[in-house]
Amino acid sequence: MGNHEMNKNGFAMDVIEQTPTPFYYYDVDVLCKTLQEINRQIAGHPYAVHYAIKANGNPQILNIISKHGFGADLVSGGEVKAAHDLGFKPDEMTFSGVGKTDREIRFALELGVGCFNVESIPELDVINQLAGEMGKTARIAIRVNPDIDAHTHKYITTGTADNKFGINIESLDEVLAHTLSLPNIHLRGLHFHIGSQITTMKPYVMLCDIINNLLNRFECQGINFEMINVGGGLGIDYERPDEHSIPDFESYFNVFKQHLHPRHGQRVHFELGRSIVGNCGSLISHVVFVKESRNKKFVILDAGMTDLIRPALYEAHHVIQNLTSESPDEVETYDVVGPVCESSDVFAHDCRLPVTCRGDIIAIRSAGAYGESMASHYNMRPLPEAVLHSSH
Ligand code: LLP
Repeated sequence: MGNHEMNKNGFAMDVIEQTPTPFYYYDVDVLCKTLQEINRQIAGHPYAVHYAIKANGNPQILNIISKHGFGADLVSGGEVKAAHDLGFKPDEMTFSGVGKTDREIRFALELGVGCFNVESIPELDVINQLAGEMGKTARIAIRVNPDIDAHTHKYITTGTADNKFGINIESLDEVLAHTLSLPNIHLRGLHFHIGSQITTMKPYVMLCDIINNLLNRFECQGINFEMINVGGGLGIDYERPDEHSIPDFESYFNVFKQHLHPRHGQRVHFELGRSIVGNCGSLISHVVFVKESRNKKFVILDAGMTDLIRPALYEAHHVIQNLTSESPDEVETYDVVGPVCESSDVFAHDCRLPVTCRGDIIAIRSAGAYGESMASHYNMRPLPEAVLHSSH
């Protein structure tokens, strides 16, 4: 808060210089503007957004998101507990995941989560049995695998038929009939999720068409749903985090406003993660050494794949900036790497940076989603700290 010297990318440099690295720097102003923009787009529509907290479960971030009226999409007992502790309402919680354990299911039933997104018949039977033992009724949605290829990275594609997620459309009649026969289950609706880091609207238009057809088909069979959950997946601009810090939510929600035809009284749920938190976060690090080998120059950071695993795991691209270079106009080519004992501990190959020296401060941008939440203790490294900054 207060007066800060901001650099050209909007970093409060005094905060950055005083905080031990590596750490995550979150720009609260970007986060709040993002949340306000989503609320502006959904106002007046029967839409609810459940933030996918797997993208970033930092308690202070969760607090801000819950205060803006968002629900929570959860994938483990740990996430259910965190969401509950931080003020998300159980009614606005959805519990997803292909492998929910009995303990997790009981905990979620105890809290009264608004919806279990169910992925198989065995899971349905277990939830029915546990709910019966506890004298409860479980509210559920069936996760449908719509077999849409959203052309994202193979490790984050989820909506195609060869994937472990959801129930294929061919099996849906049988699964719904089974669901309706179970005494302790209340069927609320259908759930879909077609992948992550989706940057064109076409897959979402295809999803809307599939959902409209299913709604017609089941209406003819006398099955009406209270809600349809269209999942998440909207991508962010990893190339231009400052120009496009807020994703194009207008185009995204317009797809659903124009193409999806919910029935009277039916709610549409969204489970956005990355698009909410991705561009408000950066990983800040110091240069430990600059090392020259025969053909390459390496910038070795005090941050590594344990702090941000996306480049090592998915070959993901993140913009890298030197915030303190003494010679900003003189550019060199470096491999930017971490200190971890793995050859894949590389943030970028052949990265163009201003001449970089030991002690310079480096920002790895667009790290707000799946950064801190995927950090690990490998090599017995401590987890990265986090600092939230607001200029108001
Ligand atoms: N709903 C379900 C059922 C999901 O599986 C996911 C993400 C989301 C919602 C939120 O998707 P988003 O809006 O964030 O795209 N670690 C990877 C991304 C994994 C996404 C897993 N599922 C990465 O760093 O790119």
